Amino acid sequence: LREIAMPHDLEGLKVVVTAGPTREKIDPVRYISNNSTGKMGYAIAKVAMMRGANVTLISGPTSLAKPRFVDAIDVVSARDMYEAVVEEAKDADIVIKAAAVADYRPDTVADEKIKKKDGDMSISLERTDDILASLGANKSDKLFLCGFSMETENLIENSRKKLDKKNLDMIVCNNLKVAGAGFGTDTNVVTLITKSDIKELPIMSKEEVASKLLDEIMALRK
Ligand code: CTP
Ligand code: CA
Repeated sequence: LREIAMPHDLEGLKVVVTAGPTREKIDPVRYISNNSTGKMGYAIAKVAMMRGANVTLISGPTSLAKPRFVDAIDVVSARDMYEAVVEEAKDADIVIKAAAVADYRPDTVADEKIKKKDGDMSISLERTDDILASLGANKSDKLFLCGFSMETENLIENSRKKLDKKNLDMIVCNNLKVAGAGFGTDTNVVTLITKSDIKELPIMSKEEVASKLLDEIMALRK
């Protein structure tokens, strides 16, 4: 009933949400990834859909069931995610980048399984493209761009830098060292930063964080 009673204030808006980790291949059986489970992004996609938006969820590999009534696009690598997001952002009103995108990938992918040898090995990595920064650099007036930020120290200062550098309208900051926040949990503790404001939210479920985040975005779009 709570779900039916939600306002339909996002009716007619296209919302693109990214979620989950990316995987960067080393060889046919191995990859580099991270601890993202996708829960935060999936919660945002679900709540935006329930509030009437046309939602596209671009997701890295997760074990979660897709929320109903969203257009889902599955991707694996940071490069796949880049291509999907740039395409879907073209006619979007709001892009929310909750995904934990790899910053580096192996500079070559071995065709065959790498066999172990005596002694240590090292893998050479190259930078991936920053999807948000690229969207921010080509941003139209219509588009509201929201990033996420994961930090273990200097949360506010580092997140503000990301907001400016990537030309974002808002950044949702996660302190990985706070209990009930971050990867895998059903709750989150976040701070919302915009160019002119900073709002610390108390611990709440990821769906409640999604609601507050969408409230804030809708207030700022007016
Ligand atoms: N992001 C992105 N493309 C990348 C890396 C990150 O779009 N190649 C986005 C993430 O989806 C997130 C935001 O940028 O919304 C911030 O990610 P985060 O890892 O916190 O910051 P980085 O800018 O990658 O900096 P660092 O990891 O060094 O803190
Ligand atoms: Ca990063």
